[in-house]
Amino acid sequence: MFENYFLAQIDYIKDIAKHGLENDRESLLKSLSEFVDFYKDSKKTNLALQLQSLIKDSQRKTGHLTKVGSNHYFNQQSEKEFSDLVIDKLTSDYRLNNLVIDEKVRQELIQFIKENKSVELLRKYDLPVSNKLLLHGSSGCGKTLASYVIAGELDKPMYVVNLGAIVSSKLGETSKNLSKVFKKAALEESIIFIDEFDSLGKVRDYNQDHGEMKRVVNTILQLFDYLPQSSIVIAATNQENMIDDALTRRFDVNLKFELPTKLQIKELIELTLKKGNFIVSPKTALNKIVNQCQGLSYYSIQKTLINAIKRTLFKQLEDKKVGQKIDIKIWSELIEQEKKALKKQF
Ligand SMILES: Nc1ncnc2c1ncn2[C@@H]1O[C@H](COP(=O)(O)OP(=O)(O)OP(=O)(O)O)[C@@H](O)[C@H]1O
Ligand SMILES: [Mg+2]
Repeated sequence: MFENYFLAQIDYIKDIAKHGLENDRESLLKSLSEFVDFYKDSKKTNLALQLQSLIKDSQRKTGHLTKVGSNHYFNQQSEKEFSDLVIDKLTSDYRLNNLVIDEKVRQELIQFIKENKSVELLRKYDLPVSNKLLLHGSSGCGKTLASYVIAGELDKPMYVVNLGAIVSSKLGETSKNLSKVFKKAALEESIIFIDEFDSLGKVRDYNQDHGEMKRVVNTILQLFDYLPQSSIVIAATNQENMIDDALTRRFDVNLKFELPTKLQIKELIELTLKKGNFIVSPKTALNKIVNQCQGLSYYSIQKTLINAIKRTLFKQLEDKKVGQKIDIKIWSELIEQEKKALKKQF
């Protein structure tokens, strides 16, 4: 009896080790929950509970963005279909209120989301859905974040294609790879997110006669033309001028992401502080910081804020004086450092 129990336990452990080493999260979770059931059946309730809480903990830590399917799943695609692509498939929990943005751009995003939620309705009226979106503008101003917001609001999975990683592949391969991604995404009615869309310009650099460049651009134009109404393409770039005009024109919506205004800097600070225990006070300190942050991207500002909070916290612990106020001097220094690091004229 004891021996049977022992052997069964070894089998579970072997399975778990195998899935863990292969990074196959899905199978790992399945084996773990079978193991939990096994412990429960064997009246080892305490062990079962401990395992269960480990599983729950790990699921909580996975956070906002959840990878659909495991790395293993992608590794299994050994037909080399995606070997030249850095590709990810994500679902997202992000919503419009996670994004601080110009009101006009927000309205455009809302309309885009609305249309893509109403594919059937528009079809009835024989109206086309705007499903090709170009996001451009300064780095760190929310283009990638906006694509996550769209995926989250529409509750659709999203394939992330890193064009930068595929244009340097063998001649002719870029077009083939792109077609494969589009086909797969269309079948699954998912979103295709092409980040670093400007890296198409790189094709021009490595092929003198522009033959490959033309081929890739033509492929994209064709893929766009045959894109089913239930699919969505989002492309992002911080160098719009690197993209062929013929391509830019094919997007239904073209949105520019700019550096934050003073009001938007305040909104970003509020949004970032919403979840935590820290505050900026008094108002004059906030105004000083906002002025100082002008010219920096949302990303840079948020980074200095989070670092300021961490440093304030450590300082408070050292001084044994716990409080809510962020140390403005620390924050202000971090902003200056960030500006210097960016070597930009402010
Ligand atoms: N408009 C915004 N509202 C709220 N947070 C933002 C915004 N823009 C950037 N952030 C913060 O900065 C991070 C990085 O932004 P994101 O990756 O979207 O920038 P990007 O425009 O795609 O930049 P790049 O051109 O360098 O790829 C976000 O995850 C978010 O935390
Ligand atoms: Mg980005």
